[in-house]
Amino acid sequence: MQKILKTYQSTLAADNDHPFLHGPFTPAMDEYVADTDSMQVIGEIPKDLHGIYVRNTHNQVHESIGMYHPFDGDGMLHAMHFEGGKATYRNRFVLTTGFLAEQAAGRSLWPGMLSPQLQARRGWGAMGAMKDNAGTDVKIHAGKLLAGMSQGSEPWRLDPITLETLGPDEDWARYVPDGVASHYKVDSETGEMMFFNYPEKPPYMNYGVIDRHNRLVHYVPIELPGARWPHDMGITRNYTILHDLPFHFDNELLAKGQRKMMFYPDRPARWHPAAPWRLGLGALVRGHALPHPAPGQLL
Ligand SMILES: [Fe+2]
Repeated sequence: MQKILKTYQSTLAADNDHPFLHGPFTPAMDEYVADTDSMQVIGEIPKDLHGIYVRNTHNQVHESIGMYHPFDGDGMLHAMHFEGGKATYRNRFVLTTGFLAEQAAGRSLWPGMLSPQLQARRGWGAMGAMKDNAGTDVKIHAGKLLAGMSQGSEPWRLDPITLETLGPDEDWARYVPDGVASHYKVDSETGEMMFFNYPEKPPYMNYGVIDRHNRLVHYVPIELPGARWPHDMGITRNYTILHDLPFHFDNELLAKGQRKMMFYPDRPARWHPAAPWRLGLGALVRGHALPHPAPGQLL
């Protein structure tokens, strides 16, 4: 069985020749469900394989305002679900606030990251100009999918089987006004999610932990000497390792609203181990209740 569940209407112009809207990047407007019988299976699907493989993509629906960047496209998840020797494929858009608004309007309402000066209404992201496209990240945490655009959208929860959008995270996102950077990590042993963000104002980085019950149990400033542009973080069993690398915005220009990336070869790379909280987490796993932090403790 292969079925189209919904078809969206694209407004991309027929002569739009942007390379990131063609070939393997051609946006898909159909949402499908397909089972094993409609796929070519090479070999045999192991009967004890039970879980999903899921990926997030940027899948632009409307002609963009200003120049398109491949990270601007609307978020669409594709998932292959394995169970009992069978596979089921699904794809669905992440129905963010901005996506639904543009669906209602039938056109783009927000410019992409290369044209923030064309902003006509309040948006999301560090510059407050973009749409919350939720197309870069996806992970499983607390029994649900969590999809987002690095610091550019709220964290969105989706059903891992149906890919139905359940809504922006209700439990902790409001306590994290600077958002969640890409490359947050989920500890497969404890179910905790470790994340960071890097606002362009002091303290320039924050670090947080969401427990397996989806409670924000730790959120602390990481004071850096200026605005940075970190990409990733690491986790080990006992430590989270945060990065302060010498490739970032020229901070003097940034104070004037100009963003120019610079490499500072005379500055050492620094690795910040955020350890004490993680060492304490074993207590939670063993069943000791931790108080849910009050908003005043976090902001
Ligand atoms: Fe990345």
